[in-house]
Amino acid sequence: MSNSDKARQTILIVDDTPENIMILMDLLRNQYTITVATNGKRALQLASSGTPPDLILLDVLMPEMNGYEVCSQLKADPRTSDIPVIFVTGLSDESDEQKGFDLGAVDFILKPFSPSLVKARVRIHLELKKHRDNLEEIVHERTRELVLTQDAAIFGLGVLAEYRDIETGQHIMRTRKYVQLMAEQLKDHSRFKGYFSDATMHLLINSTPLHDIGKVAIPDVILQKPGPLTELEFQTIKQHTIFGKEIINRIEAGMSDKSASSFLRFAEELAYTHHEHWDGSGYHGLKGDEIPVSGRLMAMADIYDALTSVRVYKSAYSHEEALKTITEGNGRTRPEHFDPVVLQAFVDLCDTFRQVSSGRS
Ligand SMILES: [Fe+2]
Repeated sequence: MSNSDKARQTILIVDDTPENIMILMDLLRNQYTITVATNGKRALQLASSGTPPDLILLDVLMPEMNGYEVCSQLKADPRTSDIPVIFVTGLSDESDEQKGFDLGAVDFILKPFSPSLVKARVRIHLELKKHRDNLEEIVHERTRELVLTQDAAIFGLGVLAEYRDIETGQHIMRTRKYVQLMAEQLKDHSRFKGYFSDATMHLLINSTPLHDIGKVAIPDVILQKPGPLTELEFQTIKQHTIFGKEIINRIEAGMSDKSASSFLRFAEELAYTHHEHWDGSGYHGLKGDEIPVSGRLMAMADIYDALTSVRVYKSAYSHEEALKTITEGNGRTRPEHFDPVVLQAFVDLCDTFRQVSSGRS
């Protein structure tokens, strides 16, 4: 039983006539906690407070702000839109009732009313409210469990990728941080409008450890070769993006509920497109907007980290050398490889990148 079941439910009575409030209070105070407001403005304040009522009994005819206006404002505010409203009114015209229902009221009680009818209507709507609250609580809890399960699955795969990679887990943690920094910097940029929802940010950032998961299928002798790669070896290394996509696809195919596998979409994008170049000169020749946003961010994070890290075939660049290489080019890496907006975000954030790179963040 939840806390809301144990507590007495609260009713807000809104009426400009104290006598009417007293009549309703006498009827309901034994079973429910009652709060009152004698005008619309006060009613809206109480409804949007930290302890909102479970039900509102709302008079229609009030000076300044009438019941219809109060109801429409309640329904327009996400904090109060779910609170059921019952109009208590002397108006009995059908069009008045229709107007009230159109504004979102759940019921009408006509004055003069019988006490048993008021009690019955109030009880029914409060029970409905309680059931709906319980259902929402269950859905919320299940959703939370699902997100935790997805996070655990992605994390597990990331650990696998990390074990196999010759780089340390630090590479995974740093690139994750770089992608997060750029995503937060760009989430309000006009070119990415609507892309970076809270759910997208969460999945994208948590999926970044999987970008190199395809390396599990590349032989050590090539992955760890200290000298320059032959053309054939380079072609083999490039396959890690395809293997990565295939691994994610096979996991998705093994899930009975296809809609549940959508949480792996960023992992698949990242694995396949993190070596694409904005000018089309990357592994698979994707160009410009053909490259998913996730892949563009990962490419920038991956290159900066590769440049500033020791690899079997190279020593580490300083931050300044890496910045110069990315913004001016060195023959192998060129600024045209990056989405200009992502490149600008990197430049704007480069002091923070430097701190992450040097282990101070
Ligand atoms: Fe890679």
